[in-house]
Amino acid sequence: MDMRTEPYILHEEPGLKKYCACGLSKNKPYCDGSHHGTGMHSYKVEIEEERTVAICGCGQSKSKPFCDGSHLSL
Ligand code: FES
Repeated sequence: MDMRTEPYILHEEPGLKKYCACGLSKNKPYCDGSHHGTGMHSYKVEIEEERTVAICGCGQSKSKPFCDGSHLSL
């Protein structure tokens, strides 16, 4: 991921979301395909219903792609 010290708070509509796992996307927190060739893959999350999500921006979460509050100890 990147060096943010807080999550990305997103209001998501239902559907399949792909969040960046490699840290190279220019459209974080979403995947833009920049991981191709790195051996890494995006986090694929099916959002069942409209809701707000907190996506980890610090890279320390143990529940990626979601924020688990680990950024609070940075
Ligand atoms: S932003 Fe990474 S754990 Fe919250």
